[in-house]
Amino acid sequence: MHVSSIISAFSLASLALASPVEVVERQAQKLKIMPLGDSITEITCWRAFVWDQLAEAGLADKVQYVGSQNSNPQNCQPKTSGWDQHHEGHSGWLAVDIANNYLTNWLKSTPADIVMFMLGTNDVVRGKTTDDVIAAYTKMVNIIRAANPKTKIIVDLVIPLSFSNAPIQAINARIPAWAAGLNTTESPIVVADCYTGFQTSYLRDGVHPNLDGDRVIASRVGPLLLDYVKKSLA
Ligand SMILES: *[C@@H]1O[C@H](CO)[C@@H](O)[C@H](O)[C@H]1NC(C)=O
Repeated sequence: MHVSSIISAFSLASLALASPVEVVERQAQKLKIMPLGDSITEITCWRAFVWDQLAEAGLADKVQYVGSQNSNPQNCQPKTSGWDQHHEGHSGWLAVDIANNYLTNWLKSTPADIVMFMLGTNDVVRGKTTDDVIAAYTKMVNIIRAANPKTKIIVDLVIPLSFSNAPIQAINARIPAWAAGLNTTESPIVVADCYTGFQTSYLRDGVHPNLDGDRVIASRVGPLLLDYVKKSLA
């Protein structure tokens, strides 16, 4: 046997062994989605309703929610049993603190392909400025991309706050241009408008969505997430 044909037979053999294994590993890898936020992510049902949308689109077995938390404090009962209750929602937490002190390690523990976040409500309540919140968002995007340069990001317009809505409106007014300014092909950012049409009657306590509010949030976030998931799996 000629030397070069021995070499090519060897490379063919190793390719034949290696590539199916890699393919199987890729198929077993689920797309990782991190729902990131405060109590509006933790003690609410919109992430359950978004899971229903994933299931209805036949995507539930191809994705997982990730985060250090695994809970269903509102006892949400979506159509899909066995929905993934992982998340990175932390009641009472500020965007500023999450950006400065926590997000880097959270993404190390549970890496994500897609991050979707709503934050800023507690910053407003604690007197942080619009600039503080937008700077925290920028820091979060930098951290997310440092962890995984190809992360797809969904940023939510923040739902209204019954007792202090002007600062929420100010943050929301800044988000579209801020997001467009940081948008890249490799790591796209899209805005989920969870504000327009969100009535204060959709709040159960002036801050948190009731089931009507959860359905509004899910209806604004879900289609953007499904679009990301389909593009990622294509
Ligand atoms: C980011 O770019 C994508 C692709 O062009 C686009 O669909 C999306 O709307 C852009 N996001 C923003 C916030 O402009």
